Amino acid sequence: MCQKNAAIQGFAAVASNTVQTLTTAVAVVVDIPGNLRPLNARGHPTRSRASYTVAMPYRFTRSAELQQRAETLLPGGVDSPVRAFRAVGGHPPFVVSAEGAYLTDADGNRYVDLFGSWGPMLFGHAFPPAVAAIQRAASASPSFGASTPAEAELAELVQQCFPAMERMRFVSSGTEACMSAIRLARGYTDRPFVLKFEGCYHGHADALLVKAGSGLATFGIPGSAGVPAETAMHTLALPYNDLSAVEEAFASHPGLIAAIILEPVVGNAGTIAPTEGFLRGLREITRREGALLIFDEVMTGFRLSAGGAQGFYGFTTPELKPDLVTLGKIVGGGLPVGVFGGRADIMEKLAPLGPVYQAGTLSGNPLAMAAGIATLRYLLDNKAEIYPQLEETSATVFAGVAAAAAEYGIALTTNRVGSMGTWFFTPTAVNDFASASTSDATLFARFHRAMLERGVWLPPSQYEAAFVSTAIGTTEIEHILGAARESFALLTR
Ligand SMILES: Cc1ncc(COP(=O)(O)O)c(C=O)c1O
Repeated sequence: MCQKNAAIQGFAAVASNTVQTLTTAVAVVVDIPGNLRPLNARGHPTRSRASYTVAMPYRFTRSAELQQRAETLLPGGVDSPVRAFRAVGGHPPFVVSAEGAYLTDADGNRYVDLFGSWGPMLFGHAFPPAVAAIQRAASASPSFGASTPAEAELAELVQQCFPAMERMRFVSSGTEACMSAIRLARGYTDRPFVLKFEGCYHGHADALLVKAGSGLATFGIPGSAGVPAETAMHTLALPYNDLSAVEEAFASHPGLIAAIILEPVVGNAGTIAPTEGFLRGLREITRREGALLIFDEVMTGFRLSAGGAQGFYGFTTPELKPDLVTLGKIVGGGLPVGVFGGRADIMEKLAPLGPVYQAGTLSGNPLAMAAGIATLRYLLDNKAEIYPQLEETSATVFAGVAAAAAEYGIALTTNRVGSMGTWFFTPTAVNDFASASTSDATLFARFHRAMLERGVWLPPSQYEAAFVSTAIGTTEIEHILGAARESFALLTR
């Protein structure tokens, strides 16, 4: 779950939280209008007309009550800001259960899930091997605060996927993994500055909550109240995909930059791929300048390939591999896990071997390790089928929705890498945060609500990636594309 603040995301709060209470909820068959091409058994579009079934209209009465109650106890009614749906308006549905591709809310509405708990649910919800492993581990006691065999077992599986992680340490979130990697990079290099990219999110640690102007000599300014300027000033934020800006930053801060941290494929400004030569250029510059290269693969890890973006783009050779890597989301199989790791000589600067302190009461928690082991074992055993299937499903979903928008004359830019992607409501090509910000967030918000009311749950912000899971099959694809056509039709009215 991303916790980005409004400044970082460029949120537009578009609607007050009106209760959407409609009339009776009954299952009806909705004819798909026009010439939508439904999908055959292999997920390919056919030429005939079809229909799909949705529970219409959706009611959110119980969710609205639950939100009201939550707001008396939790700021905004949530434990993580984006869940409040402020960027898209309307009360957020309260989820009570989920299975496979579907979420069920407190009013009994069902949704095809296209956000997957913000990434972890690669195999859909209540994935049986992970559930069974969690149950077994729970019955042996949920926590010991001592070393367990499961930690090295999960570490071996992680290392099979990410050979760059010669040593690693488990933590409880992606934020912790990134925060710890930054401290380690500073401790290892004895340099104060960190370079990040606008629109990349690395958790909510002070040093990383910075949305700086793109000027090279510009010091970072905090993107959140409560972050001291003295902390933010050591973070430089540059436009993504701009190598010359990186060169200038190193030229103006000689010997002072400890590390570059980036999402090798951005998910947190919506999906943005690295342009040709960008990652390689960063590797060359950091090596030349004695700075570390940190790939934040909290989102892309195990999603783009078993070896994440570095596997996907071939950054596994000694010359190209990153110095440090951060992971989260999928590695915990739905439980709170993060992990950071990398070159042994860097990682051995960590306490108890070295001077960089890092610790956690529940780090390497047995339930979380068990869920991670079950998930990664399944992934490694079946990767030959998993990634081609994800690619085929994702290609059909993202291209299908884009085609539906085109039929209704709605300008979309569709960015997709593997099973993550974003429909930006802009005709402009999106390759950095500035171009992502040209999107019409109000139109996105209307699209989001229309899809929700047709049983498809998209991430509730224009600046987030949608995720496809292996649980999404032909029925769900047909439903998504039918709902998209209806939603686009609504937007043109
Ligand atoms: C790339 C990236 N890094 C770090 C984080 C922070 O992870 P967490 O929310 O587990 O703290 C996120 C969260 O979405 C992320 O997408």
